[in-house]
Amino acid sequence: MTFTNIEDIANYLVADGKGFLAADESTPTIGKRFDAINTESTETSRRDYRELLFRASGMDENISGVILFDETLRQASADNTLLKDVILKTGALPGIKVDKGVASINDSEEVLTGGLDGLEERCTEYESLGAKFTKWRAVIKIGENMPSDNCIEANMQALADYAKIVQQSNMVPIVEPEVLMDGEHSADACFDATSRCLNSLFANLESKGVNIKGVILKPNMVLAGQGSSSQLTHEDVAELTMKCLLENVPEDLPGIAFLSGGQSDIDATANLDALNKLGGNPWKLTFSYGRALQQAALKSWLGQSENVVNAQEAFSHRAKMNRLAALGKWAEDLEG
Ligand code: 13P
Repeated sequence: MTFTNIEDIANYLVADGKGFLAADESTPTIGKRFDAINTESTETSRRDYRELLFRASGMDENISGVILFDETLRQASADNTLLKDVILKTGALPGIKVDKGVASINDSEEVLTGGLDGLEERCTEYESLGAKFTKWRAVIKIGENMPSDNCIEANMQALADYAKIVQQSNMVPIVEPEVLMDGEHSADACFDATSRCLNSLFANLESKGVNIKGVILKPNMVLAGQGSSSQLTHEDVAELTMKCLLENVPEDLPGIAFLSGGQSDIDATANLDALNKLGGNPWKLTFSYGRALQQAALKSWLGQSENVVNAQEAFSHRAKMNRLAALGKWAEDLEG
């Protein structure tokens, strides 16, 4: 696949009905996912699991991009094909997580994502290894006096610096300002925090001269905190999320690919579907799910080779359901 510029890559990644598989769990994070299914995390077991996903039939038609961790971009399959080539064969593009995780801001509960040091050199290498896009995740918490203006500004500045460097390496930056759903906060608090982040993010992207037509936004949906007793309906999530996006995101951004952030598989699909049924948005609205695409597959797989086909079916089903949601054509009775 050849692209003339980053805008072409961005448009390819948000083609109608297609979305991202986020498979970029760091080694400690995939270790926790494997612990939950009593499976040892080794270079081989991580390879086997990811290869199973990339070879599932649900990749075709539904997945435009796969976000990888450094190890996976360099890894070969059991029959010695590079995993990134397995991905390319399905029509999806390989991408790479480039941030280096979070550190506390002045010993507070708030965190700043790092990884700008040496980023230019790493991007040059990743581009030569075949990555077409990248991801950087900022983590924003809601709580007493949180998020602070300082935390938002520092994280959104870093996201803009990252995006500028990535575009100079001819890759598309996914910018991910994640307002966490942990806590008992109201949906209004999430709306407010998400608005402040998006407003600051696009001001920083503009001031750094980032080409918005070659960027993809990966935000949270506007939700009540996981511990709140007053949860929104899917229609209310869609309305509040759309309002927040319309107020803060420029029209020339090609697409928005939501994170699932701890929502159940079905909630993540139903909320995306409700957003697309609402309409009136100038950008594509799709998925970039990690847990909501993989949970069912992990539970079917259990680290056993005899379960590979069942795990692939579980993943393919979720990929298909999310394609329908990205088109606003999902319905609960299709879940079977
Ligand atoms: P979740 O969909 O599990 O939130 O993961 C998406 C992701 O890439 C987080 O950075």
